[in-house]
Amino acid sequence: PWICSCAALPTDAEVSCVVKQSCILPCSFQSLGEPILHWTQLKSPELRVHSFYSNQDQLGHQDQNFRGRTSLFLDQVSRGNASLLLRDVQLQDEGRYNCYTSTTEGYKGLIIRLNVDAPVSDIRIHQDGNRITCSSEGIYPQPELTWSTEPPSNMALQNRTTVHQTEEKLYDISSSLTGPDGPDLTYSCSIRTRRNQRRATFRELSPVTVTTDETLLPCSGLNGSETTVVWRFNHQTVLNQTGRSRSVSERWRKHVKDVSERGDLSLQGLDPDLEGNYSCESSDEDETMVTQITVKRGGEETRENS
Ligand SMILES: *[C@@H]1O[C@H](CO)[C@@H](O)[C@H](O)[C@H]1NC(C)=O
Ligand SMILES: *[C@@H]1O[C@H](CO)[C@@H](O)[C@H](O)[C@H]1NC(C)=O
Ligand SMILES: *[C@@H]1O[C@H](CO)[C@@H](O)[C@H](O)[C@H]1NC(C)=O
Ligand SMILES: *[C@@H]1O[C@H](CO)[C@@H](O)[C@H](O)[C@H]1NC(C)=O
Ligand SMILES: *[C@@H]1O[C@H](CO)[C@@H](O)[C@H](O)[C@H]1NC(C)=O
Repeated sequence: PWICSCAALPTDAEVSCVVKQSCILPCSFQSLGEPILHWTQLKSPELRVHSFYSNQDQLGHQDQNFRGRTSLFLDQVSRGNASLLLRDVQLQDEGRYNCYTSTTEGYKGLIIRLNVDAPVSDIRIHQDGNRITCSSEGIYPQPELTWSTEPPSNMALQNRTTVHQTEEKLYDISSSLTGPDGPDLTYSCSIRTRRNQRRATFRELSPVTVTTDETLLPCSGLNGSETTVVWRFNHQTVLNQTGRSRSVSERWRKHVKDVSERGDLSLQGLDPDLEGNYSCESSDEDETMVTQITVKRGGEETRENS
C-alpha cells in the first residue's frame, strides 16, 4: 500500500472570510522586472480571477463570478505584493486559489485555501404555551444547536430541531423544546459554527400582583456597557436602552419612572390596561437574555376616588 509521508507536503495557506465582507488573499514574489500575475480558482474548469501583465490589470478573460469584485494593490505590485482584494465575498468563492507569479527570474505558484463563513448573528428565543423556540438564520457552514436548563433538568429534554438550507446555501435553524415547565427555570440555547457561537436564554419569572400604582420589574440580564435592553409589553416596544442612551415610546413616557443601568424597570401610573406580559431582552455581542414576567392588578382597594 502507498504510504504518504504527508508531513513533507506543504499545507495550503488558509484564509477565513466572512460572507458579504472584503477579504485579502495574500501572495508575494521576488520583485524583478515586469511581473506577470495570474490569480485562478482551482475548480474544474479552472476559473480566471484576476490577471496583471504589461504593467496593468488584464480582465478580458475574467470569470463573470468575479467581475467587479477583485483588485490588486497596484501601488505595491512593484514591491512584490501580489495579494488579491476580493470584495462582497460569496459562499461560492470558497475553495483553493493559485497565485501564479512570473518574472525574469522564474515563476512560482502559491496555493491559498479560502474558507467562507456566515457567522451566527441574531438569535431569537420565545415562548409559546409550554414550548420554547430558538432560531437563527443565514448561517454557514451548518450550525449545531444545543439546549440546557438552569437548574439542570434530569429529564431528557424533548427537543425538535430543523435545519433548512436556502438557495444561497445558507442554513436556517430552529429548535423547539417542550417542558419541563415552571417559573424560575432558565432555558438556554446555543448555536455554534466553526467561526463563532451565540447563546439565547429565556426565563419566566413568577407573576407579580400589583396593588399600588407603582412597581419594579426586574430584568436581571447582562450588565456590560455594550448591552442593549429592550422592554416590551404584549409585543409592543416600551423602551430600548444602550449604555446611556434611552428611547421610550410616546405612549409609555408617563408610565416609565426609571430604568436602572442593568435594565430593571420602574413603572408608575399602572392602570388595568397595563396588565399583561412584560419582557426584557438584553443582548450583547455573544448573548441574548429574555426575561418574561406577567403583571396582574390585585387587591380590593377602590381607586375611583383617587
Ligand atoms: C499587500 O498590500 C496590502 C495593502 O497595503 C497589505 O494589506 C498586504 O498585507 C500586502 N501583502 C503582502 C504579501 O505584502
Ligand atoms: C434533543 O433530543 C435528542 C433526541 O431527540 C436527544 O438525543 C438530545 O439529548 C436532546 N438534547 C437535549 C439538550 O436534551
Ligand atoms: C456585572 O458583570 C461583572 C462581570 O461580568 C460581574 O463581576 C458583576 O458582579 C456584575 N454585576 C452585577 C450587578 O450583576
Ligand atoms: C431604539 O429606539 C430608537 C428610537 O425609537 C430606534 O431608532 C432604534 O431602532 C431602537 N433600537 C432597537 C434595538 O429597537
Ligand atoms: C402571557 O403569558 C402567559 C404565560 O406565558 C400566557 O398564558 C398568556 O396568554 C400571555 N398573555 C398575553 C396577553 O400574551
